[in-house]
Amino acid sequence: MAQSDPRLNKEYSAMTLRTAIIGYGKMGRIRHNAMERHGGFDVVVACDTAVDPNARVPMVTDPMAVYDYDPDVIVCSVPNMMIPDVVCTALARGKHVFSEKPPGRNSQDVRRMMKAEAAAPNLVLKFGFNHRVHDAIEEAHKLIQAGTMGDLYFMRGVYGKAGGPNYAQNWRNDPEQSGGGILIDQGIHMLDLFQMFAGRFNKVQSFVQRNFWTDVPVEDNAFALMKNEDGIVASVHSSATQWQHTFRLELYMRNGFISVDGILSASGSYGTEVLTVALNRLDPTGNPIPNPESQEIRFTEDHSWDKEIAEFHAAVAEGQPLKCGTSQQALDVMELVEAIYAADEDWSAALRKDTLKVIG
Ligand SMILES: NC(=O)c1ccc[n+]([C@@H]2O[C@H](COP(=O)([O-])OP(=O)(O)OC[C@H]3O[C@@H](n4cnc5c(N)ncnc54)[C@H](O)[C@@H]3O)[C@@H](O)[C@H]2O)c1
Repeated sequence: MAQSDPRLNKEYSAMTLRTAIIGYGKMGRIRHNAMERHGGFDVVVACDTAVDPNARVPMVTDPMAVYDYDPDVIVCSVPNMMIPDVVCTALARGKHVFSEKPPGRNSQDVRRMMKAEAAAPNLVLKFGFNHRVHDAIEEAHKLIQAGTMGDLYFMRGVYGKAGGPNYAQNWRNDPEQSGGGILIDQGIHMLDLFQMFAGRFNKVQSFVQRNFWTDVPVEDNAFALMKNEDGIVASVHSSATQWQHTFRLELYMRNGFISVDGILSASGSYGTEVLTVALNRLDPTGNPIPNPESQEIRFTEDHSWDKEIAEFHAAVAEGQPLKCGTSQQALDVMELVEAIYAADEDWSAALRKDTLKVIG
């Protein structure tokens, strides 16, 4: 790590990571702000094809030009299609990498990045699955791990939004660039949470549909039902026609339930995070009394970006092992996304027909 930067005439502590951000759109800027709040990063350059004359750091348009600034770390926040190239190049050049989700467009992309990671064992590669570290989710996880709520039976997840402006033109809805629609873009967070709570799922059924944007070659709704080897069942509905923005995760255990309603986001449109916890009481015959009393905790500040950046810094600067956003977790969730696409025979037949472009 650079101890001083003669170009900027700044003194660096041993823990200051010179950082280049590739992809300086919405997420690149969110990450920049989080790194500034952390204090252990010095963002020395940002790269984007669209140059912002008011950017607070030097900007370049060619991703390879960031290496002239001698970064320790590359933050990758480009559209999904570019992620594997950016990540593999950075690792091959000896840089630690923090990359946005999804980890590319498919599991093949993840495997390619894992190969580059294996060839650079002293470098850190972390993917930004920030939902794992939302306060309400972390509390739910702790409660379940404590064991008092008993075995997990099933999970239900709804995550949806109203498509968004320029839906048809947005890179997110171009399968060449994104790898899929709402499921790989947003639903992937819910699937990642399912796997955090229950491990890998090995049986999957699904319906994948286009309801509103019938001319756009990616799904705007995906419904899936999955089961793991312990018999834990999860269902997800990932939707771009959820006109009322919604995040809801329910976990039902032997002794009660936990739900998380709302998720704090940059737009604020999914509401605050409300964690509800209910413990069953039993009637004299030993059966649970319906509608148990519950307690609510409301979280109002999104600390997820800060926690992710702090974990990444600790991994790079102190060698701490990563808990969230490992490449294995990335592979597991991408395989689940693929399994959901494949399990709907009509959808996968349409995909085979012509990478979805000519679905009639
Ligand atoms: N963790 C989360 O909750 C979360 C939320 C939103 C987006 N994301 C992910 O972050 C990534 C970026 O999404 P976003 O919302 O910031 O999108 P965005 O469109 O706002 O930003 C992407 C940026 O990449 C730039 N870009 C495109 N091609 C480039 C190239 N060849 N060289 C340099 N820059 C290039 C674009 O000009 C744009 O500014 C995506 O992978 C997305 O899935 C994660």
